[in-house]
Amino acid sequence: MKATIAVLPGDGIGVEVTAEAQKVLTAVAEARGHTFVFETGLVGGAAIDAVGVPLPDETLTLCQAADAILFGAAGGPKWDDPRAAVRPEQGLLSLRKGLGLYANLRPVKLNPVLINASTIKPEVLQGTDLIVVRELTGGLYFGERGRKDGGNTAYDTMIYTVPEIERVARAAFRLAAGRRRHVTSVDKANVLESSRLWRETVTRVAAEFPDITLEHLLVDACAMHLIRRPSTFDVIVTENMFGDILTDEASMLAGSMGMLPSASLAEGSLGLYEPIHGSAPDIAGQDMANPLAAILSAALLLRYSLGLEEEAIIVEAAVDRALAEGYRTPDIAEPDSETLGTRAMGDLIAHLVAKS
Ligand code: IPM
Ligand code: MG
Repeated sequence: MKATIAVLPGDGIGVEVTAEAQKVLTAVAEARGHTFVFETGLVGGAAIDAVGVPLPDETLTLCQAADAILFGAAGGPKWDDPRAAVRPEQGLLSLRKGLGLYANLRPVKLNPVLINASTIKPEVLQGTDLIVVRELTGGLYFGERGRKDGGNTAYDTMIYTVPEIERVARAAFRLAAGRRRHVTSVDKANVLESSRLWRETVTRVAAEFPDITLEHLLVDACAMHLIRRPSTFDVIVTENMFGDILTDEASMLAGSMGMLPSASLAEGSLGLYEPIHGSAPDIAGQDMANPLAAILSAALLLRYSLGLEEEAIIVEAAVDRALAEGYRTPDIAEPDSETLGTRAMGDLIAHLVAKS
């Protein structure tokens, strides 16, 4: 097949890990006779430096015309002044909103060979394989906000409509149908009105999926159960901010943030794929970053936007194989492992893909 992939490396290690993911996609194209056209765009701090805004119009146009988007990371200390009028993160938020990427899939699957990389006890982690579906274009992130009373009062608004809740709930139920058929909906319905609407709506949508079980959890309890009984979760669906917080917590179940990919999906097949880690300015430019989250994000791109399930599995299998053979980047290194830099790990995965 022929596909156009927008590549937005962004800032810090985003640049390095995206290059490796692109390398692996190129290996997939060569091995399987596909043509992938890569078009690079500016985003985040890099875009602020070049043209003064975190999401130039050209980048948005490029993404709208593409079949899928490979994203690195946005942000860094250079642009961190809280008084700054423009921030790199706005680039990512505008992309999510502008492209209607409402369903953010964050799978957390423990690779058994990394069980000791986590700070949590192996017997608790055993069998963890969950996926968080985070609502990505509503809630507190996009509700009205501002200051009043001469700047001494600040407010943000948590706002949701029934259609916004329905579509993300359906995405979660459809996903659960291909997995262990269990959905946990997370809210704060004992306090928040938006959560009461959330719970009501998810319960109604559940009736469309009679063979899937639905459980409701309050977000504070969910935070606790995630580290107490992680392996009992299958699909978790939640609003934007709760999902942001819970997925950082959940990422520790897999050992390192450097391992976790994500997919942000719109209606139709367009999606944005990014590692869940950030720009990690402290290790940027040192060929030390773990490119596996970006590479696994490229696998999700193959699966969800291009419909290339077999190719996705080939990439995921190559990652498993490299880990099983003891190859590690510094973040997941163990005493007897072979430590590779960012580029060498990317080369290895591309090589394994080419051979498969
Ligand atoms: C994430 C990040 C972003 C978010 C930031 C960079 C705006 O934390 O993707 O989880 O809060 O959504
Ligand atoms: Mg986050």
